[in-house]
Amino acid sequence: MGEITQHDLPAAFRRRFEAEPSLMVRAPGRVNLIGEHTDYNQGFVLPLAINRAVWIAARARADGQVALISENFGNRSAFSLASIQQATGAEAWSNYVRGAAHALQAQGHRLCGMDALVWGDVPVGSGLSSSAALLVASTLAFSALAELDLSPLDIALRAQQAEVEFVGVNVGVMDQMISALGQAGHALLIDCHSLAHRPVPVPNGVAVVIADSMKRRGLVDSKYNERRAECEEGARRLGVQSLRDVTIAALEAKRASLPELIWRRCRHVVGENARVLACVEALRAGRLDEVGALLVQSHESLRDDYEVSCRELDVMVEAALRQEGIIGARMTGAGFGGCTVNLVREERAGRFVDGLREAYRAQTGLTPSIYVCRATDGAQAINLSLSGQPT
Ligand code: GLA
Repeated sequence: MGEITQHDLPAAFRRRFEAEPSLMVRAPGRVNLIGEHTDYNQGFVLPLAINRAVWIAARARADGQVALISENFGNRSAFSLASIQQATGAEAWSNYVRGAAHALQAQGHRLCGMDALVWGDVPVGSGLSSSAALLVASTLAFSALAELDLSPLDIALRAQQAEVEFVGVNVGVMDQMISALGQAGHALLIDCHSLAHRPVPVPNGVAVVIADSMKRRGLVDSKYNERRAECEEGARRLGVQSLRDVTIAALEAKRASLPELIWRRCRHVVGENARVLACVEALRAGRLDEVGALLVQSHESLRDDYEVSCRELDVMVEAALRQEGIIGARMTGAGFGGCTVNLVREERAGRFVDGLREAYRAQTGLTPSIYVCRATDGAQAINLSLSGQPT
């Protein structure tokens, strides 16, 4: 395996496959600024693509076989496009690549086989969407090698279909959309009902800081599905298609008709949708105090009403709010561990990182990974020249 970066990937490909790669693709991970557990309720989200990504170096094969090597996991996996089976055990990571091919073929696209070397620096299992990045990168690699004319939105939707139908996790559309459609320097407001999206600039002088609690997310899939089911029950009882169609006032008016737990789940989703839109307005107007307050309200709602936080995430947010330069902090992603997102005044970012690391370590005994990140462009495919370097 060894320490490599994306710059070494063509050379590593040559070593592994004894051939030139013809393509490199890059698909970023993401962090969500606000709008948590709203995407599968057809609501609003505000993620940004981060400067950590999954990269694939690849070349086409004429025999319909797909040969994969993961630099991160240090193993190989192979399958035939004619009959795509699930992989298990040490090769389970390849299900994201298999699923991408499966979803594209299910739409009637003709693919060609490939040799592919996969490497990424999105931490796995910490809620920064390494799996969505691998799905989007794989979908883009198959699509580019077969010269399919797919838009970034098509790529995102096939990647989501792969995760739901092949990998078997019933996710919303946020992670794949931001990985495919991100814009440098911007977050993306996505309406998960219409799939309309528009960039929202990250204000000048504001750093986005991700703090990994190092608490790995246990039980996340079962709890995730449980929350989805609770939201569906809420929508059914409220007589709407999805919680997207409910206002706070309408929800208040029906309070007596909902079991207490369902009421709280609904209050999170309906309130969170309103917070996303308010946050976009406040960001555009430069009202950073208001942005910060909305992030904190989002965290409290996820902790108390939606119950997807955990002690480590709460400690990390509380510690962040005590640091100088903090604008706002909250858990990000599905929850039950993973990361927080912090907006911090840029000139304070260095000291913020040190202060937060110390405070969190003192309270939990865990050493967090903290990254000051940049909002990057979404996935790209790069044709390689004969030299094997990006052109
Ligand atoms: C995970 C899912 C997303 C979204 C978030 C919670 O990241 O993949 O679709 O539901 O959880 O906001």
